[in-house]
Amino acid sequence: MDFNFTEEQIMIRDAARDFAQRELIEDVIERDAKALYPTKHVKRLAELGFLGMMTSEKYDGGGMDTISYVLAMEEISKVDSSVSVIMSVCNSLVNWGLETFANEEQKEKYLKPLARGEKIGAFLLSEPEAGSDATKQHTLAVDKGDYYLLNGTKNWITNGDSAHTYLVIAHTHPDKGHRGINAFIVDKDTPGITVGPHEDKMGMRSSDTHSVMFNDVKVPKENRIGEDGFGFKFAMKTLDGGRIGIAAQALGIASGAMERAIAYSKERKAFGKPIAEHQSVAFKIADMAVKIENARNLILKAAWLKDQHEPYGYASALAKYYAAEIAMEVTTEAVQILGGYGYTKEYHVERLMREAKLTQIYEGTSEIQQIVISRTLLR
Ligand code: CAA
Repeated sequence: MDFNFTEEQIMIRDAARDFAQRELIEDVIERDAKALYPTKHVKRLAELGFLGMMTSEKYDGGGMDTISYVLAMEEISKVDSSVSVIMSVCNSLVNWGLETFANEEQKEKYLKPLARGEKIGAFLLSEPEAGSDATKQHTLAVDKGDYYLLNGTKNWITNGDSAHTYLVIAHTHPDKGHRGINAFIVDKDTPGITVGPHEDKMGMRSSDTHSVMFNDVKVPKENRIGEDGFGFKFAMKTLDGGRIGIAAQALGIASGAMERAIAYSKERKAFGKPIAEHQSVAFKIADMAVKIENARNLILKAAWLKDQHEPYGYASALAKYYAAEIAMEVTTEAVQILGGYGYTKEYHVERLMREAKLTQIYEGTSEIQQIVISRTLLR
């Protein structure tokens, strides 16, 4: 096992750190408070090549590996997960799904502009009544010969308004259960699509989350991805990789909170010495470090397996489950260490704590990861 990163991986990590620590930090508190979309930062993500970093060069992406992606995700999430979730959905759900399962014409038309960062993608699986139980899709795509007629509502869609390209999961044959589900590429400006209001979220308030309604939307036949009935497996396989990205996001939230707790505890004095010199604080820092290092190792292993083209669904569920849980624990302890300051906006850790909560919920709740993990072992 080689625990060293390559020069290229280190370069990418440092570029992401630089972007986060110099640019995102500037207005992250204001954007969070006002729920402002990070327009200029998404433009910078594109310029820096982060939106298509994992797509191969053949399709105009950066051709970087999953380890590089994880390192970049961690650095950006230390400062701002509203921005890293946009990057994550584009890279590991939309672009990866297209590169792996779309045909050449679809990749030319849809993947290339996404990989160049000229367009933004969104992944539309969740519904008002189908979140964890993803086979219970109510959105229907009826085969009309040359096209499918799409009707239904999707919920909690990251990039719901900012995206140009939607990947929509819908039932075409509800009587066939999960084998009657398909995935479609849908242009957001197709007539019949309505985007709901911005969700007023607890955390990651600067990313845009919306419901999306489809009312008699005509989707060309050639926009279906893969064989008829492949949609559920498409979604599951894509989410396996997506979970590595969200695990890395959770890791960044945790490590960002620990860095802030360490810096504060060396400055702040109580009972005649810096609080870092009190064991009650030092032990908390040690516990944070163990959890963060364990999460990092699980995530890097999942990323490495993916890069080696080995099965990684189990490893990604382990990583996502553990990283999200410890992100919640570490950020809660960071707020505790910062005390009254930690509970105010200006010290960042309360925001990191709110962001951590979402990593336990989206791209499969912690309980979904437990299902994936336990099923693998008990099968
Ligand atoms: N890879 C490939 N195939 C898979 C698979 C995987 N990871 N997981 C399941 N399958 C296949 C199974 O092999 C089975 O196929 P066969 O019938 O041919 O054998 C089929 O799919 C059905 O599998 P299950 O019976 O296991 O399905 P299930 O109904 O019990 O559900 C589940 C499994 C893991 C609970 C799944 O429903 C799930 O992951 N739910 C959570 C969905 C989710 O993560 N939603 C997040 C929304 S996206 C998001 O948040 C994006 C964003 O905007 C940030």
